[in-house]
Amino acid sequence: SQKNLDINHRLTEVCDLLQTKVDTYDWVGFYFKNGDKRELILKAFAGEPTDHTIIPFGKGICGQVAESNQNFVVDDVAAQDNYIACSINVKSEVVIPLFVNGENIGQIDIDSHTKQAFSKEDEDFLTWVNDQVSQQLEA
Ligand code: SME
Repeated sequence: SQKNLDINHRLTEVCDLLQTKVDTYDWVGFYFKNGDKRELILKAFAGEPTDHTIIPFGKGICGQVAESNQNFVVDDVAAQDNYIACSINVKSEVVIPLFVNGENIGQIDIDSHTKQAFSKEDEDFLTWVNDQVSQQLEA
């Protein structure tokens, strides 16, 4: 639908903006839950294309956040056993769930080539970004 195209376009703009403006944000994407299929689908991203456009619930950092409804900050991806590597350059990652009307419908995922790139300030900022996106999705 036209509304979906507009949303996807605007999500891509958000990804581009974050990836361009914040030095340590090397890959930025939005995954959304796919109906009741218990999988995430990549809707928009900025950075290198990834093979992982579909992620089952429970798999990787993203799949874990789909079930936990909690922020997941990874200071060092090498120390994670349930992790899906998109690029050998990635050293740290953050995933913040996206809530619409209190329901976890997806997430923003950011990869960094720098270890320990994500602080509490990043979490707060990205929670705010998700709140803005959520308001657009509700509208
Ligand atoms: N590293 C993620 C997979 C998505 S890529 O970072 C784009 C994970 O472990 O879920």
